[in-house]
Amino acid sequence: MVRESTPIVFEEPGPTRRFVVIGSRAKSSAAFKLHALWDSGGRMDILVRCIRAALLVSGGVRRNTLLDLLLLGPGEAPLALRLDGRSIRGLRPDEYRNARLLQHALGARHPGAGPEMVAAGIQAAPMDLEALAREPRGNLFVLGREGIDMRSVCWQGDATFVLGDDRGIDPDHAKVLERCGAVTVSLGPVDLHTEDAITIVHNELDRTS
Ligand SMILES: C[S@@+](CC[C@H](N)C(=O)[O-])C[C@H]1O[C@@H](n2cnc3c(N)ncnc32)[C@H](O)[C@@H]1O
Repeated sequence: MVRESTPIVFEEPGPTRRFVVIGSRAKSSAAFKLHALWDSGGRMDILVRCIRAALLVSGGVRRNTLLDLLLLGPGEAPLALRLDGRSIRGLRPDEYRNARLLQHALGARHPGAGPEMVAAGIQAAPMDLEALAREPRGNLFVLGREGIDMRSVCWQGDATFVLGDDRGIDPDHAKVLERCGAVTVSLGPVDLHTEDAITIVHNELDRTS
C-alpha cells in the first residue's frame, strides 16, 4: 500500500525543540521556480533541506519539533512560516515535493494578512527575528562555531535554536539575539551546512533525553 503522507512518530513528544532558520534573501512569496530554488528562491533550497532535517526521521515526523523559516527576501518580508510537527501533513524526504508544499503554503497567504494557517500545520505570520526570539519557547540558543560546546550544556525543557543560511547570521541579527538573551552554542570547529547543524542538534538531544 502506498502511504499518502509520512506518519507521525514519537507519541510522547517531550520538550519542544524549535529551530529558527534565517533565510537572508529567501523569497517571502510563492514567486520562485521549483527547479531553480537556489537563484529564483534566494537560496530557498537551504530552507527546504532544513524541513527534512528538522521534521523528518526515517519513517516519520518529529512531533516534538517546530521549524520557523524566516523569509527576508522579496515579497512580503519579514514573513515567518511555522511548520509544526504535531499537525503538518504531506512531508516527504525529497526536496522537490517539500519545496512544492512551501510554495503552495506561500501561495495560499492573503497579502497583508496577519498570522494565518496556510496549510495543515503551516502558519504564516508577518514577524521579524526579534518577535520570533521573544516568543516564550524555553531557552534561546544561537548556533555558531565560536560558542560553548553543545555537549557541555545540561538540556532540560523546551529550547529554541537559531541558525543562519549560507551567509550565516549578520551582525544586526546577532545583536538582536544577544539582546534577547541568546546563548551561542557550538557543534564543533567545522563550518557545517545549516541542515546538517540541525541534524546534529537533534542527534545530541536524542541521545541525552
Ligand atoms: C553554512 S553555515 C554559515 C557559514 C557562514 N559562512 C558563517 O560564517 O556563518 C550556516 C549556519 O549553520 C550553523 N553552524 C554551522 N556550523 C556550525 C558549528 N560548527 N557550530 C554551530 N553552528 C554551526 C550556524 O548557525 C550558521 O549560521
